[in-house]
Amino acid sequence: MRKPQYLLFALNSGASLPFKRLCISQEHLNIKAQIISNLSFQVYSCLDLPRILLAASGSVAAIKFGNLCHCFSEWAEVKAVATKASLHFIDRASLPKDLKLYTDEEEWSSWGKIGDSVLHIELRRWADIMVIAPLSANTLGKIAGGLCDNLLTCVVRAWDYSKPIFVAPAMNTFMWSNPFTEKHLMTIDELGISLIPPVSKRLACGDYGNGAMAEPSLIHSTVRLFLESRPQPSD
Ligand SMILES: Cc1cc2nc3c(=O)[nH]c(=O)nc-3n(C[C@H](O)[C@H](O)[C@H](O)COP(=O)(O)O)c2cc1C
Repeated sequence: MRKPQYLLFALNSGASLPFKRLCISQEHLNIKAQIISNLSFQVYSCLDLPRILLAASGSVAAIKFGNLCHCFSEWAEVKAVATKASLHFIDRASLPKDLKLYTDEEEWSSWGKIGDSVLHIELRRWADIMVIAPLSANTLGKIAGGLCDNLLTCVVRAWDYSKPIFVAPAMNTFMWSNPFTEKHLMTIDELGISLIPPVSKRLACGDYGNGAMAEPSLIHSTVRLFLESRPQPSD
């Protein structure tokens, strides 16, 4: 059974400081705080926070992964998965302090014998939704081909496609315009995976063109809007 979760909304005023203190002091109760407007009012409600599995693969845009994790952690339960290549770009110090980042090492170190839980299956079971940002050309190709040789691709290969997956590709414009990209995107579209398209700008390598990951704020708002606009059980 899920642990009860409490979401506190403070409609912000001069009273927001005590409110912040209250939230900090109640961290052990799993309280998430959100300050949503300029009025002095507080609402307490009890609900299940969405469980979001954020994943990063080895695009240079993984330097923004910490930012993305912070955005989602403000209103959701978040766990993270990173490929070996993405770890070259992720600054672990930039991640939220209470965020658990899983790598291929944990996939193997958490398993010792038959009967032990298997991390990619546990994560697949735990998550309500998965967001892969950035999605590298390599991981895109592997997902489209059904390959699963690391934690991230094993989660996707085991995924229940009635639950949403969003991907935000990020790659050099030559990779993006390569014919493989379109083929792979068509295949993952058939699986029901939602694309948050890349944008055109000057890329990390100096080239100008399409292939840069959408901004974390756009990825965050797209997913949040999607979740909030879904019919709720009581509707
Ligand atoms: C400095 C550097 C930057 C890279 N940037 C990207 C990128 O933006 N997008 C991409 O698809 N691959 C990029 N690559 C290549 C991937 O890191 C490589 O294909 C890797 O195998 C991806 O592994 P993963 O998909 O398991 O994370 C880059 C490689 C290097 C060395």
